[in-house]
Amino acid sequence: MEETKRQYEYMERAKELLQKKKEELGRPFTFCVQTFGCQMNARDSEKLVGILERIGYVESDSENADFVIYNTCTVRENANQKVYGHLGKLKGLKKKNPHMMIALCGCMMQEAHVVEKIKNSYSFVNLIFGTHNIYKFPELLVTAMESDRMVIDIWKDTNKIVEDLPAERKYKFKSGVNIMFGCNNFCSYCIVPYVRGRERSRKPEAILDEIRRLVADGVVEVMLLGQNVNSYGKNLEEPVTFAQLLTEIEKIEGLERIRFMTSHPKDLSEELIEVMAHSKKICKHLHLPVQSGSTDILKKMNRRYTKEQYLALVDKIKTAIPDISLTTDIIVGFPGETEEDFQDTLDIVRKVRYDSAFTFIYSKRSGTPAAVMENQIPEDVVKNRFDRLLKEVQNIATEVCAVHEGTVQPVLVEQINHQDTQLVTGRLSNNLVVHFPGTADLIGKIVDVKLKECKGFYYIGEQI
Ligand code: SAH
Ligand code: SF4
Ligand code: F3S
Repeated sequence: MEETKRQYEYMERAKELLQKKKEELGRPFTFCVQTFGCQMNARDSEKLVGILERIGYVESDSENADFVIYNTCTVRENANQKVYGHLGKLKGLKKKNPHMMIALCGCMMQEAHVVEKIKNSYSFVNLIFGTHNIYKFPELLVTAMESDRMVIDIWKDTNKIVEDLPAERKYKFKSGVNIMFGCNNFCSYCIVPYVRGRERSRKPEAILDEIRRLVADGVVEVMLLGQNVNSYGKNLEEPVTFAQLLTEIEKIEGLERIRFMTSHPKDLSEELIEVMAHSKKICKHLHLPVQSGSTDILKKMNRRYTKEQYLALVDKIKTAIPDISLTTDIIVGFPGETEEDFQDTLDIVRKVRYDSAFTFIYSKRSGTPAAVMENQIPEDVVKNRFDRLLKEVQNIATEVCAVHEGTVQPVLVEQINHQDTQLVTGRLSNNLVVHFPGTADLIGKIVDVKLKECKGFYYIGEQI
């Protein structure tokens, strides 16, 4: 593709510029990429790392580096605050190292008030770009290297998908794969559609090619990424369903496991359930964000399903795939949420019995419809509901986790255990984690493990 070629040319140019600096100073130049937010951002960061390594920077895990880049998230206010906190610290580091460059990208940068604040209060930042033009990073880097002013390039939206830029994976044996970008759902609390733009799907051939290349490079598990994978392919010139895409991916030889996220309940098809039930590679795990158990609140959230519809869907899934693990996201304290609405949320948690749930306190995002809704809930009420919900979720998760005790399951070994180096840590198909005695040579392999003891959210096991 024309654009890809252009960016590779900029990588060459950046490499020359950096080479000169390295020779002048007689030392390597380091970089540090800090990622906030979701798996999309994590995957984007792997692309940034891939580009920086190609240019000749050396990765460092400290922010005391020559090039520091923050890939930001803005889904909740505390994600933003973290970035400002980090930036404050960088100012001092940059004073000590005149060669230091600082870049900011990701979802937060798509908000005009954020960029304004950085221009005014953090003028030492060298480069700001957004989510739509991340593929232009090599070009922007060259501009920033040649300029002594802040370089800013933010696009409102795009329909462009640029393929085949380098990426450096964090794990050798597993990888995220974007299948679509953006979101069209406009849940009333959510900023993502505003900062990630309209939904666009990659062509199936591009996805399949990427996965084949990943598999040839040692990958055994892929995580297909999209804000709503269930609407994959609807807007392609030749429409393809998500289930059809999965069926094609399943045929790739050498690929062992397929995961995906996130599934919006309103678009989850019978066809998908069918394909999952018969698949040998699709993991027995479905992340199915419910957000609230109250039909009233769901309506105000613009989720487009009722409590009853969600429960019926869960029933259908559990009947077709009895050993499926279900996880979810829940928001507490959405504007207008009454105690009765909250009881509905507790009720749905008790009925579905999730393997785990991410629980969030509602965060007001300016520009979203919910931000101007009446009846914002007082902090102490929300906190109290949050604590009650968390307790319920944890109690149930512990019980659900324990049902596998004593069974033998295939486990993909991911790493040496952080606390005890005699142990390795791996993941079951249903996404539960197990620690068991083992050595580094097992990393990336799928082995049978007996789940000896459930410790609440994870297992202690033994290789069979
Ligand atoms: N596309 C995914 C979610 C992406 S954001 C989906 O629809 O499921 C991840 C989670 O963050 C959401 O599921 C939601 O629970 C939470 N979230 C999003 N906006 C939020 C807000 N304003 N306040 C609190 N939590 C929020
Ligand atoms: Fe946000 Fe809803 Fe889109 Fe998920 S589906 S990213 S919650 S708007
Ligand atoms: Fe955050 Fe952007 Fe993901 S706002 S959750 S990093 S899509």
